[in-house]
Amino acid sequence: MVKKIIVGNWKMNPTSYKNAKDLLATLSKAGKEFKKTTVVICPPAPYLALLKKDFARSSVLLGAQDAHEEVSGAYTGSYSAPMLKDAGATYVIIGHSERRKAGDTDKSINAKIKLALKAGLQVILCVGETARDEHGDYLTVIAHQLKTALEGVSKNQLTKISIAYEPVWAIGTEATGVDTPENFHHNAIYIRKIIADLKGVSAARLPILYGGSVTTKNAESFLSQGHADGLLVGRESLNAKNFITIAAIASRY
Ligand code: PGA
Repeated sequence: MVKKIIVGNWKMNPTSYKNAKDLLATLSKAGKEFKKTTVVICPPAPYLALLKKDFARSSVLLGAQDAHEEVSGAYTGSYSAPMLKDAGATYVIIGHSERRKAGDTDKSINAKIKLALKAGLQVILCVGETARDEHGDYLTVIAHQLKTALEGVSKNQLTKISIAYEPVWAIGTEATGVDTPENFHHNAIYIRKIIADLKGVSAARLPILYGGSVTTKNAESFLSQGHADGLLVGRESLNAKNFITIAAIASRY
């Protein structure tokens, strides 16, 4: 059975290393209970190397929240994929809607993915529409995001990629709703079809995660009715108890 992937995106939290360490300590202790799940925590980049050192034996994997499209150079305030890998990241989130809003383009996302793969990172590519329309036009937004992001990515490299479907209107404190598991399931099938057509491979095993206001209350429905291969969790990943509950639910699927 393939393990579900539960990713915690801490965003720009918590505000001290001490709190980050306490949070990961609680999760790492619980790690034993959810051996059947792949748990990834994406802390702010400055905590990565510290957490990697302090939790060298933890079963919780670490990820970065973004990576620059160049290896090095005059890019003040940025971190490149090889640096993040060196600091302890196994995964990297690319194309998160908050990064797209901050300036990521189709082109830069594509370059970031290629460089992250080259650096040996596993990529979690975020796609999702900002608004949903009754006619299904939003599906062309998802198709466009996939097509541009994966340009030049080989069939072999696809095995290092997971897709997080995150409808933007369902993300964060300003969310106007949460998607339904049924709709997620339809969209996941659509995503597989787009990728299969693009790359000429079966995308049946490509992990497709749901993200956007995941809680202890709705996690199960996305995994059961929605057939999600995992979840990308924002706010709830800062609450150790709730995040552990979500991961424990996933370990049953
Ligand atoms: P949320 O964030 O769970 O707080 O909605 C999800 C995300 O931004 O990945």
